[in-house]
Amino acid sequence: MCGIFGFVGEGLNVQDLINGLKKLEYRGYDSAGIAIENEKNISIYKKEGRIYNLESEIPQLMEKKISTALGHTRWATHGGVSDQNSHPHTDCTGKVAIIHNGIIENFQYLREKLIKNGHIFKSETDSEVIAHMVEENYSGNLLECVIKVLHELNGAYAIGVIHTDEPNCIIAARKGSPLVISAGSNISMLASDVTPILRYSKDVNFLNDGEIAKLTNNGYELYDLQGNKIERKPIHINWDEACAERSGYNHFMEKEIFEQPIAIKSATIGRLKDGIPCIKELEPLKDFIETKLEKIYIVACGTAYHAGLAMKYFMQYYSNIDVSIEVASEFRYMNPKIDGKTLTIAISQSGETLDTLEGVRIARKNGSHVLTVCNVVGSTIPRESDSVIYMNTGPEIGVAATKTYTAQIAILYIVGAQIALWKNLYSEDIKNALCQIENLPEYFNTVLGYSQKIKELSKSYCGYRNMMYIGRRFGYTAALEGALKLKEISYINATGYQAGELKHGPIALLDQEFPVFAMVCDDDIKEKMISNIMEVKARKARVVAVGIEGDEKIKTLTDDYILIPKCEQAVFPLAVAPVMQLFAYNVALLRELDPDKPRNLAKSVTVE
Ligand code: M6R
Repeated sequence: MCGIFGFVGEGLNVQDLINGLKKLEYRGYDSAGIAIENEKNISIYKKEGRIYNLESEIPQLMEKKISTALGHTRWATHGGVSDQNSHPHTDCTGKVAIIHNGIIENFQYLREKLIKNGHIFKSETDSEVIAHMVEENYSGNLLECVIKVLHELNGAYAIGVIHTDEPNCIIAARKGSPLVISAGSNISMLASDVTPILRYSKDVNFLNDGEIAKLTNNGYELYDLQGNKIERKPIHINWDEACAERSGYNHFMEKEIFEQPIAIKSATIGRLKDGIPCIKELEPLKDFIETKLEKIYIVACGTAYHAGLAMKYFMQYYSNIDVSIEVASEFRYMNPKIDGKTLTIAISQSGETLDTLEGVRIARKNGSHVLTVCNVVGSTIPRESDSVIYMNTGPEIGVAATKTYTAQIAILYIVGAQIALWKNLYSEDIKNALCQIENLPEYFNTVLGYSQKIKELSKSYCGYRNMMYIGRRFGYTAALEGALKLKEISYINATGYQAGELKHGPIALLDQEFPVFAMVCDDDIKEKMISNIMEVKARKARVVAVGIEGDEKIKTLTDDYILIPKCEQAVFPLAVAPVMQLFAYNVALLRELDPDKPRNLAKSVTVE
């Protein structure tokens, strides 16, 4: 959950290092720091808070050319947020500097052992033990030394290590936390993801667990934990550097909300024609699906879980196929009933979420085929899965998932339709929903056109402390996601409920200080939803609704409303997503919060 960027080579300066680091700030923004090695000396600059705090402390350094450097942006786990706990960390002599992403589980034991041997610690972090262990074990070969140290570490790590006795060299290693390396002209780089690398090279190598890389001016070499050399060709990344820029928008979240028409197009193109699914990644599974498949299990976290829930409803409602879904952190520990007749679908934007990854491992261990829907090419979850469907939406930088949520649902519906087709359960309703997904780019353009109205609406709700989101069936899945968007970036206590559940407890919370956001889908149970809104109104709670154009009842019943063009009920969670996202975005701005970097969160959650 931290960001790592470093390089060895010629031609780059401190500003380049900082700029690279800024591309990873979404991974953690509690503090930032850099280590620069120059003429057998390591200089460390680190500062609590955002990268600009660090940057503003060292303006005189920005143009300075550097040949070996490590940078880190932190999401605190062990040790509070402070300058001292910021990375890089050094050993007692100042000859070693390290950066680390992950958690060293046996750090307490190692730290006590090192202290007994006379080492003096300057931080409360688990990571600092690595620097002292390198100091203790170094005898002239940094690669061998780091390999030795790694054998003693338990837990998860992506690390970069430098030593003044071996200038122009970085040793990088990975277990459990992502790390990508690359060689451009006269420069070798390591980073937590490809975004800071793309400016210099589009050919990258994703380290596997237990792999170590030695980066020098002449490129990189890969090794295993026994020190054996590994040969592996890099893979080519199609993303442009510009995809990871704000391109004139105020925030990445805003940009990514408005990118949804194009993101949906990229996610669905070639996978759908006139309402008929044709996903080539699923072809190898045709026989399994037709003859063996009995059950589908979906595993995901956060927004990806909400997308999965929409798929579950889609499959059960239209084709009566048995689908179970579990939040990955629960799935891991619940002894799920899966076997060779189960298809497990893992959903992850980042492809690095540890809980989802462990879910994938458990499913495979139990004989299930694992299909992953993921956005980040080459990330860990796809690499450990049996089949992968990449979302092709380009990088999502804002911590709040937006364009990847709608792309996930679109892809999952097409997967669901493909399964229904092969199981002879395809229907006109499924076809209609898929036809609308083909037209979603246009539909989204219309809904995004309401942005000014949504901005005005958010003014009336930004001052509340609580908010409840309600819906039924597909509207319920949308309510969950709407509530998550609001709470994670505005810190308003927002919860999603099935509207029918209100009377079983949650309605007790409602009064004029507790507004309700109602998702009113145009379906066969709309009247029940209307009754729930009336129950809410009877408790004097203010109600804002999203409904379908032409719905006169909503206009008279609710305090505020946004009406969107007609859509199939299954498409409703997609159709309302831009409204929910823009509402949360504007509320966050009105509360003077940074929607791209909500407190306590990070984009990719690689710890348990
Ligand atoms: O990368 P993943 O899709 O696996 O991430 C899962 C969740 O951490 C993620 O969706 C999170 O809930 C988002 N911040 C929601 O906006």
